[in-house]
Amino acid sequence: TKVLFVVSELAPLIKTGGLADVAGALPTALAEYGDEVRTLLPGYRAVMGKLGKTKVIEKYDDLFGGPAKLLACKMAGLDLLIIDAPHLYDRDGGIYLDTTGTDWADNPQRFAALSYVGAMIAETGAGGWTPDVVHGHDWQAGLTPEYLRARAVQVPFVFTIHNIAFHGNTDAGKLVALKLDGDRFTRDHFEFWGQISALKAGLMGATKITTVSRTYAEELLTPEFGIGMDGVLRDRQSDLVGIVNGIDEDIWNPATDPYITPYTTPAKKAANKKALREIFGLGPSDGPLCVLVSRLTEQKGIDLLLAALPELLSRGGQLALLGSGDPKLEVALLAAAAEHENVSVKIGYDEALSHQMMAGGDVILVPSRFEPCGLTQLYGLRYGTLPLVALTGGLADTVINASPAALASGVATGIQFFPITTQALGNAFARLADLYNDPKTWKTMQRNAMKQDVGWKASAADYHAIYTSLTETHQ
Ligand code: ADP
Ligand code: GLC
Repeated sequence: TKVLFVVSELAPLIKTGGLADVAGALPTALAEYGDEVRTLLPGYRAVMGKLGKTKVIEKYDDLFGGPAKLLACKMAGLDLLIIDAPHLYDRDGGIYLDTTGTDWADNPQRFAALSYVGAMIAETGAGGWTPDVVHGHDWQAGLTPEYLRARAVQVPFVFTIHNIAFHGNTDAGKLVALKLDGDRFTRDHFEFWGQISALKAGLMGATKITTVSRTYAEELLTPEFGIGMDGVLRDRQSDLVGIVNGIDEDIWNPATDPYITPYTTPAKKAANKKALREIFGLGPSDGPLCVLVSRLTEQKGIDLLLAALPELLSRGGQLALLGSGDPKLEVALLAAAAEHENVSVKIGYDEALSHQMMAGGDVILVPSRFEPCGLTQLYGLRYGTLPLVALTGGLADTVINASPAALASGVATGIQFFPITTQALGNAFARLADLYNDPKTWKTMQRNAMKQDVGWKASAADYHAIYTSLTETHQ
């Protein structure tokens, strides 16, 4: 099947979170099943600077306020289609936020343009290549089915929810600017509490909706997790399916990882642990060395971790944390590091360091309030760095909690806590310390973790099956 991905970030070119990793790894996994993916991505300044040889395959006189070109190129084994539209994407600052940390005021147009070009490619092709399926990711691709409809293009549209918290809402006054049909500004289409919602447009217009774990697919139907879209999703429940993310097993491979002292058995993690303690300025200690790598937002439960820290530290545990985001959380974390010698924090984004942390840590923490899938616990499993995670979303589906039953049958790979509170996280730290002090059990868990299948093969097969079923019914 020929599939056009419509997506706002893509590793290794441009990344703010797990969406980029998924967009970067899934096409290669799909190729094994014969699918041919091309990925449409905005030509942000940071992206344009990294492209090699490109070919201009289309020119647009006026793409939401200025001239633009569609470029084709190959990079890192991926077939890319890049929208070169300087008025939308060539600027300082982040891809979603300006230099002051506020959403770009023209984000509605910037991502409407992405969706619009996606629809044009579905209609007339790109350099002779026309997709059988369009696969959009998150709200940035949400308007695609509206534009497909306006052009009477019959192609099936798959929509993947990576994070329902972002709706891409904008005021109704932008209907014309976004080239939307005012007659469809209704509850049944893309109107959401008086606003235009790109996310809702995607959900209502999708032929099939997927999200990134089975548990999150169920959680999304509840008001607590659906964040306003649960009603829409309940209406579309029969077309919603959860497919868990995998990881790129070449990039995240402890046996070949260029950033670490490579290893294939957990015992050989020691050199990496020593190096990691040096990097973070941590001394020796009796308890587990816990690591955390994350965007710092409300979602990630960093405040819960700060409140539960005493339980970890009282058992000799240590924390090495890498992240950036909410300035208040950054300040609170740095204060905790200043206060406790067994806590060390680095604010920033550092790919190499994130690998060193996976290799050197004993435990990877993911105390998220919600987590559609989560990738760092998967890296942790592969690196024999046991996940201690909240029982939610993909964290529920990928970690086997060290319950008495799981320990008795020797299958545990980590620790889960529930409810998602400071108290329960504190209790989990106590359980963690007990397990860590039982080296035989700990080693069994590490071996289990490293054996677990965290690659893309099985999940790519599920996406492939969806594409196949959609193209068969549409022919
Ligand atoms: P989300 O997409 O919600 O941010 P995921 O766990 O799916 O959460 O993906 C996060 C990705 O971003 C992982 O690959 C993680 O290693 C990476 N990451 C997050 N923060 C940092 C950071 N400060 N430095 C390096 N990598 C980071
Ligand atoms: C989102 C989610 C995360 C998921 C990622 C990739 O950013 O927060 O849980 O792993 O998308 O699907």
